[in-house]
Amino acid sequence: MVKINYLDSNLKIEGKRVLLRVDFNVPLNNGSITEDSRIKKILPTIKFLIDKKAKIIIISHIGRPMGKIIPSLTLEPIAKKLSNLLEKKVIFLNEVIGANVVEKSKKISNGEVLLLENLRFYKEEESNSDNFAKELSKNGDIYVNEAFSCSHRAHASVSKITNYINSFAGHQLIEEINTIKMLLNDSKKPISCIIGGSKISTKIGILNNLIKKMDNIIIVGAMANNFLKYKNYNIGKSIYEKNTENLIIDILKKSNVNNCKIIIPIDVVVSKSYNSKGQTKSLDKINDLDLILDIGSKTIENISKIIDNSKTVLWNGPAGYFEVDEFSHGSNEIAKKITENTKNKSLISIAGGGDTVAVINKFNFYNGFTYISTAGGAFLELLEGKI
Ligand code: 3PG
Ligand code: MG
Repeated sequence: MVKINYLDSNLKIEGKRVLLRVDFNVPLNNGSITEDSRIKKILPTIKFLIDKKAKIIIISHIGRPMGKIIPSLTLEPIAKKLSNLLEKKVIFLNEVIGANVVEKSKKISNGEVLLLENLRFYKEEESNSDNFAKELSKNGDIYVNEAFSCSHRAHASVSKITNYINSFAGHQLIEEINTIKMLLNDSKKPISCIIGGSKISTKIGILNNLIKKMDNIIIVGAMANNFLKYKNYNIGKSIYEKNTENLIIDILKKSNVNNCKIIIPIDVVVSKSYNSKGQTKSLDKINDLDLILDIGSKTIENISKIIDNSKTVLWNGPAGYFEVDEFSHGSNEIAKKITENTKNKSLISIAGGGDTVAVINKFNFYNGFTYISTAGGAFLELLEGKI
């Protein structure tokens, strides 16, 4: 049994250095932030610590620099953005460990915010190095993990560091875990889950675990291609993953035993390339040159009916190549239907995952869900039943 220390409001942290691990892994384009929901979501925690007059030292990674200093992956623009959102100065330091950082962490005033550079500029972060974790821990008197979306990674700043410093679970981390667990344990039935995305093998464990808990599992996105292929449809040039037949047989068998319906597309939108026009086709009309890039209108109708008949809906993974408007229709319609039912029929709706959040934001449905998790991989691993 893991003992968890909570960051509760009685904690005396005035003048203490709080080393706060957040996930500022936001999409950047030429140094400007294109999607900032992860930054906005963390503001209440930072404000809480400011009110408590703590010294706040924030650590995060961004992107995958693989232990090298990649100038375009500096956290400096995030410091500016954070400062605007907090309406308060945020001091940025272009290092993560060492005497200079420790000194600075002690020097800042109570309620001041210091953001350190990208943790992944150091290869020791991802190798979960003891020494790096120890050095990192010197930047704080206590440590708070407020980065649920990184907590599936055994990296120094989320894992090893807790061996060297008094560590607490942040408000948002607890909220995300509790909400997702509540959905899985106390959800109202019928409960349906929409799973999209492209890598069937990384989501197979989740399917296997969810079959026991769901009434319907709707498979969309490129992941559905494997099921179509298994059913002997031509999927043309579409993405799929090799050697998944046995997994699919297993899933279908399990779904029968557990009375869970597996729903796959009955029509699709295909194109010759990712940026050409799309055409809706029934499954038997797909040819060798086609790329499946979205679900078709009959499939959308099918999914809409299932959402109408559900009391809980869980969604991870877009229905198509939503980055291009032409192929974002399926995801847009799913988001629209879920939010309508959340509003009018008190559907409990939870979405999670980087791409899913991006598509929800693209169509302005962010406030239409019961809950949106910032986490992708961590959300999925929690759904799988991992600790
Ligand atoms: C995420 O965006 O999923 C987290 O920030 C973790 O990033 P990673 O997938 O690069 O480890
Ligand atoms: Mg990721």
